Amino acid sequence: MAQNWTPSSWRQKPIQQVPDYPDLAALAATEERLAKFPPLVFAGEARRLKTALANVAEGKGFLLQGGDCAESFAEHGADTIRDFFRAFLQMAVVLTFGAQQPVVKVGRIAGQFAKPRSSGIEKQGDVSLPSYRGDIINGIEFTEEARIPNPERQIMAYRQSAATLNLLRAFAMGGYANLDNVNQWMLGFVKDSPQAERYRKLADRISETMDFMKAIGITSENHANLRETDFFTSHEALLLGYEQALTRVDSTSGDWYATSGHMIWIGDRTRQPDHAHIEYCRGIKNPIGLKCGPSLTGDGLLELIDLLNPQNEAGRLTLICRFGHDKVAEHLPRLIRAVEREGKKVVWSCDPMHGNTITLNNYKTRPFERILSEVESFFQIHRAEGTHPGGIHIEMTGNDVTECTGGARALSGDDLADRYHTHCDPRLNADQALELAFLLAERMKGGRDEKRMVVNG
Ligand code: PEP
Ligand code: CO
Repeated sequence: MAQNWTPSSWRQKPIQQVPDYPDLAALAATEERLAKFPPLVFAGEARRLKTALANVAEGKGFLLQGGDCAESFAEHGADTIRDFFRAFLQMAVVLTFGAQQPVVKVGRIAGQFAKPRSSGIEKQGDVSLPSYRGDIINGIEFTEEARIPNPERQIMAYRQSAATLNLLRAFAMGGYANLDNVNQWMLGFVKDSPQAERYRKLADRISETMDFMKAIGITSENHANLRETDFFTSHEALLLGYEQALTRVDSTSGDWYATSGHMIWIGDRTRQPDHAHIEYCRGIKNPIGLKCGPSLTGDGLLELIDLLNPQNEAGRLTLICRFGHDKVAEHLPRLIRAVEREGKKVVWSCDPMHGNTITLNNYKTRPFERILSEVESFFQIHRAEGTHPGGIHIEMTGNDVTECTGGARALSGDDLADRYHTHCDPRLNADQALELAFLLAERMKGGRDEKRMVVNG
């Protein structure tokens, strides 16, 4: 076990982004209750994800991680979860075809409730109130009462996570994800988009392959891989009291695991090496994500890698790079070179969302072409450095929202007001997410062809 570490040792460290709970006794009582609740995920599942990510670190897979910026209590419902899962599965199928490699599927879901904020105060007109910090902490309504952190919300977030996870498990294992259904995952509002035609063609090719396999005796009845899929959950481990309450010893290995989700990540604002969030994460055995923004130096990254993954275990650490389309070329190469120089094993993932947020007509938005441009640069830089562009991390929804501009339907600044529903950052809608997957698949295919030419030529 990590030296001097306990599930509560983070409490001795300086900490950023802490909500100001007015009633600390009520908070402690809630954490005690949570500590008695059943785990949401199991250590064995987290280990399975780590093994899958180890393959990605070795260049033999691709990580697709995505979901809401912030899940909300108000939008909790079966349709929202199903539509997200459908859009996500479609992306995964497209990417599997493009990469010709396993795609590791990790949702930002079933626990993604706590938000770091750049400012502790939100101002509207003359009124200043504490910022909204995610439904697990306070309410989004702009009233004094809603913005008071309320520990009871942690119980609600736990219960919503459990219900969401239950449905996701059913979708992943209970037949919905069966590749025989590949033609039926199309969402209503995507049906008449340019993506739909491309997707249909791909789905037809898969169906044809399935028919061929059936003819030689390989069917979804006798092969679980065709019938089921591994789907994992993840969220930012921001609210450490909640995380601590769900930190449990795995009876088979004796190791500590976060059981609030399979993978948890450390945000760009809370990755100070001597602070609480790094302290908590270093002691649990789950796969960990680390957001890497423009302020991270090569040496700073190596220091964090040594704290979080001292054994240099492949699959333990995913570096989620989020620089911005115009900054990625400046910052990514130095991180790659530092990691390569020291022989550290990591998964390189690209978050093309958080460095590309702009304000348009008073809405926070992200232009699709900038998102795409950051992903393309990420791929090109890795190709040039000889490293594996291992994944993407996106904010998306299965709903027909208008939060990011651009894409095949050319959403404009004026469209944003139509269906702007996010509780925090702007998300890709299912149509835009699928378009991104197709464009990525083309790049991956390009990369494979290039490699082949090098080998053969
Ligand atoms: C997020 O992923 O929603 C987020 C806040 O990211 P970052 O820490 O990279 O800003
Ligand atoms: Co976000």
